[in-house]
Amino acid sequence: MDIGQRRVVVLGDVMLDEFVWGEVTRISPEAPVPVVDIRRESVHLGGAANVLANLIALGAQAKVIGVTGQDNSGERLRSAVLQESRLQSDDLIIIDKSRPSTVKTRIIAHSQLVVRADREMRTAINGETEQKIIGKLKDALKQADAFVVSDYDKGVVTPRILAEILPLAYEHMPVLIDPKLRNFDSYRPATLVTPNHHEALRMANLEEDSDAGLHQAAKIIRESLRCDAVLITRGDRGMMLLERDLNPIFVETAAREVYDVTGAGDTVIATLAASLAGGATMLEAAILANHAAGIVVGKVGTATAAAEEVLASFT
Ligand SMILES: Nc1ncnc2c1ncn2[C@@H]1O[C@H](COP(=O)(O)OP(=O)(O)OP(=O)(O)O)[C@@H](O)[C@H]1O
Ligand SMILES: [Mg+2]
Repeated sequence: MDIGQRRVVVLGDVMLDEFVWGEVTRISPEAPVPVVDIRRESVHLGGAANVLANLIALGAQAKVIGVTGQDNSGERLRSAVLQESRLQSDDLIIIDKSRPSTVKTRIIAHSQLVVRADREMRTAINGETEQKIIGKLKDALKQADAFVVSDYDKGVVTPRILAEILPLAYEHMPVLIDPKLRNFDSYRPATLVTPNHHEALRMANLEEDSDAGLHQAAKIIRESLRCDAVLITRGDRGMMLLERDLNPIFVETAAREVYDVTGAGDTVIATLAASLAGGATMLEAAILANHAAGIVVGKVGTATAAAEEVLASFT
């Protein structure tokens, strides 16, 4: 299996994760809240842009198609994405004046999250932006070995885009979907759908978060979407893979230490995509993804795992 030269196209909700680090020395006289003295700020790629960062850390060649607003955060996000990917041209992220860029700002003092503030608009993008995305996707998919949809329910992934693009992509390459409930009926055709356990139960309209309950949920999801496989991620309980009508396979987490679980789902879908693009079987891809996620949860901040780290984790 060779991940190196594989090309992966990602469509989804790109976000900026902003971190403000500081110290609390007093309580505000205005209200009983801490005053944080800012010491340092940093930004990370989030959402679909974090899937891109994970693909690149693994050595794959990747590009991301998404939307930002016409604002300062959008500029920072686009330039961070351009810096990350050699393949990315600066027109793949569309600027939509009618919406803000999605930004999650975390204020952290003494290693503790004090507050998170989100800026976002969740309504679906307009028809004009949809049309631009469809054009760019059709073009990008001509040279791709896998296609990922990273849906964070912020409006970029729409039923119309999915209906036009998924059949085209599925004919030529593995199609992987990190889903949300709103678009559930539109994720077809697909090779692999990767909900977390909460999302899977909601999609299947079930409640029991057990091995048997998730097996049932995966069966229902697979039958209603007619996808080849469903992989349910289960946080500290690892993951469950249901391929075709085979028995489910339960994979224990590979994490040794857990510091920060944000973005683990992005690492999972990125590793699955790079592995499938490189010719791995579904089970091999799931085991690699589980190892990559195990590494990422051991790092602080939205993090990525390099191919060498993933390999080393098997020893
Ligand atoms: N607390 C944890 N302990 C050990 N492993 C974990 C933990 N949380 C996540 N993982 C690993 O990361 C994988 C994906 O995590 P999770 O199921 O939380 O995805 P998610 O809910 O989609 O995450 P995200 O917040 O990125 O959307 C898991 O399958 C597991 O391998
Ligand atoms: Mg997720």
